[in-house]
Amino acid sequence: MAATKERLDGKTAIVTGGANGIGAAIVRHYEALGANVVIADLPSAAASAEPLVNSLSNPSKALFVPVNITIWREISALFQRTKAHFGQIDYVVANAGIMETRGFFDFETDAGGNLMEDEGVYRVIDVNLNGTMNTLRLAMFHMMSNPVDQDGFRGSIVLTSSTSGFFGGTAVVSYVASKHGVVGLLRSSQAAANKYGVRVNSVAPFVTPTFITEGYSTLYKERGLPMNKAEDVASAIIATSVDVQNRGRCFLVYGGKTKEIEEPRAAAVASYMGEDVRLVMDEAKEFFDELGGYPLPRPRF
Ligand SMILES: NC(=O)c1ccc[n+]([C@@H]2O[C@H](COP(=O)([O-])OP(=O)(O)OC[C@H]3O[C@@H](n4cnc5c(N)ncnc54)[C@H](O)[C@@H]3O)[C@@H](O)[C@H]2O)c1
Repeated sequence: MAATKERLDGKTAIVTGGANGIGAAIVRHYEALGANVVIADLPSAAASAEPLVNSLSNPSKALFVPVNITIWREISALFQRTKAHFGQIDYVVANAGIMETRGFFDFETDAGGNLMEDEGVYRVIDVNLNGTMNTLRLAMFHMMSNPVDQDGFRGSIVLTSSTSGFFGGTAVVSYVASKHGVVGLLRSSQAAANKYGVRVNSVAPFVTPTFITEGYSTLYKERGLPMNKAEDVASAIIATSVDVQNRGRCFLVYGGKTKEIEEPRAAAVASYMGEDVRLVMDEAKEFFDELGGYPLPRPRF
């Protein structure tokens, strides 16, 4: 705890989706441990964000910035405003997320019997994946020019994925696809993270009572099924962000327990996909590493 406080005291964290649910718990934890914290949430979340700021022990250490993370101009301004206000961005938690409000295969047809487009399925990808990409790119860009800290890093980014980033059984199609995408961002960011001295990790919560799960969380609890509290997820996110051993890791948070799942996955490739696949993948990695990275195709159009 002392080391955590030392690594957070006077540092600055941006939490997207920080006005409600898990994000609000993350904000409270960071502030309690001495960090300045920026609540980056939609303008419509002001009614939650403002009382949250006032409930903190030192409200002057928190700032609510209304922003839609899918709009580049707005999220870019969020990072600039944070720097202007607090000086430097040390921690970013890409936490904002939504779930579809209508089933992916709940078909609605027009008068002619043709399937109608459902913009809701794009919105989930837009917020959870495109918005997380915006957050990740801006965080890396701003952190790469920070001076190195006492541990040799320039910043720390945590991406909120989900157990839906690893399983698809809930059949919440857009959400599951978006969260698999967030896990892809974690894995594909590691080369840049190492190059720039920024740690990029993820936390993948299972069921946690918030707005997203309000349709079933009471019933789930009554059934005696293990559920997180928002504070459990927030603690895991803070610990992940602060512990300098964490680089490219993903921590599952289920029923209040935490388990790292990227290292066992990497170690299990041979038993999961076969020794031949492991060998092909390892040799290909060596090849691309020797080239200094994957050579991108030229633009065709
Ligand atoms: N609750 C769970 O069981 C659970 C499980 C796994 C993962 N998660 C993930 O945890 C994260 C937090 O979710 P939560 O459960 O606290 O939900 P929540 O609905 O309580 O909070 C989400 C916050 O994100 C904000 N937000 C939505 N769209 C935004 C946008 N375009 N720009 C900025 N802010 C935006 C909302 O206003 C809200 O404050 C999400 O990424 C979610 O997918 C939650």
